[in-house]
Amino acid sequence: MIIARSAQELREALGTRIGSVGFVPTMGALHIGHKTLIEHARRENETVVVSIFVNPTQFLPGEDLSKYPRREEADFKICELSGVDLLFYPDVGTMYGRDEVRITAPDVRGYILEGSSRPGHFDGVLTVVMKLLNMVRPTRAYFGKKDAQQLALIAQMVDNLFMNVVIVPIDTVREKDGLALSSRNIYLSPSERQEALKLSASLKAATKMVMQGSVDAGVIQNAMMNILDPLNVEYVAIVNRRFEAMTHVILGDTIVLVAARVGTTRLIDNVWM
Ligand code: PAJ
Repeated sequence: MIIARSAQELREALGTRIGSVGFVPTMGALHIGHKTLIEHARRENETVVVSIFVNPTQFLPGEDLSKYPRREEADFKICELSGVDLLFYPDVGTMYGRDEVRITAPDVRGYILEGSSRPGHFDGVLTVVMKLLNMVRPTRAYFGKKDAQQLALIAQMVDNLFMNVVIVPIDTVREKDGLALSSRNIYLSPSERQEALKLSASLKAATKMVMQGSVDAGVIQNAMMNILDPLNVEYVAIVNRRFEAMTHVILGDTIVLVAARVGTTRLIDNVWM
């Protein structure tokens, strides 16, 4: 595995490659969810590139940028063992200069749900993903459905700006008990870990209701709120693939999302129907 830290090193390492390139952008603290994205990229491409960069522009003031988990050595091992060919590991100075051009998330879709809880977050995400895609120039880039709104906005950016890359969505990887894997799960105490199961439990209940023919969004949201109680819920939402609110679930075009705080840790989860 080659490790490139600068744009120049990345260019040189990519220069010798032939065939398709699969790219998995991450912020490190890699877990099985990330590993699953890498495995998909490995199966579908000649060359696999992973980036690890804790992107400061997607953290709002007061968010956990400084305490975001950093595990360089373990992450390098996971990449190596997963068959990654090239690891891009830039520092902030490599990725950002002063007074730069930025990508702006769309006014509505970029500022509801996650974008409402974290205004400006998606500007930072889209800007760094644009930079990374331009630097790596992959055939395919892999993103998790766990971050459904992020995935939708990246797919929209690629479409709106006529970018030449295929965005591949990957199903959410979960613990046996249902908890969606997240780099933030390590912040949970054992009792909070138990409480956190309410997110996936509420989504499971939503799925069950829909399977039994109960498709009214308000009714499903109420049932979910009851299961989530007494967590500090930021939102429970039922949207279509374009992130427009739905009054009724339409199978094949619905995402049910939840965001809640467990203690001080903010968790998100969703199910695609
Ligand atoms: P990060 O949180 O490290 O996630 C990297 C990728 O892994 C994202 O596409 C995310 O959706 C996916 N992922 C995380 N948990 C997952 C799970 N349990 N199952 C499946 N996939 C999962 O998302 C980011 O980084 C950043 O915003 C980034 C896109 C890298 C831009 O900085």
